Amino acid sequence: MSENKKVVKICCGRHCLENFSRDYIKAAEKTCCTRADRPSPKDDVIVETTGCLGFCGLGPNTLIDGKIETGLSINEFEEKLRNLMPKNKENKKERNGLESIDDLLNI
Ligand code: FES
Repeated sequence: MSENKKVVKICCGRHCLENFSRDYIKAAEKTCCTRADRPSPKDDVIVETTGCLGFCGLGPNTLIDGKIETGLSINEFEEKLRNLMPKNKENKKERNGLESIDDLLNI
């Protein structure tokens, strides 16, 4: 992927999964119009899962464009992602198959 792209990583360590990090993956895919398991070269923001970020008690935790964010609500998380998107592309594209997060996580 291009080094100019913004990257969002969502912790899928045990504690964050218990604190609904799957919902954050789905929210990121929807907000950034991408799929974590199948990124496209056309994506403006890359969404990835990651292992434990080391702040388990504060989760769900994310890494947004290199900055660790702990305990954001879904609304706060989506707002931060909207700020990463180019203004003219925010929520304009659609991708199919956003329901496959469990396949991605293999659980
Ligand atoms: S499990 Fe997510 S920070 Fe440790």
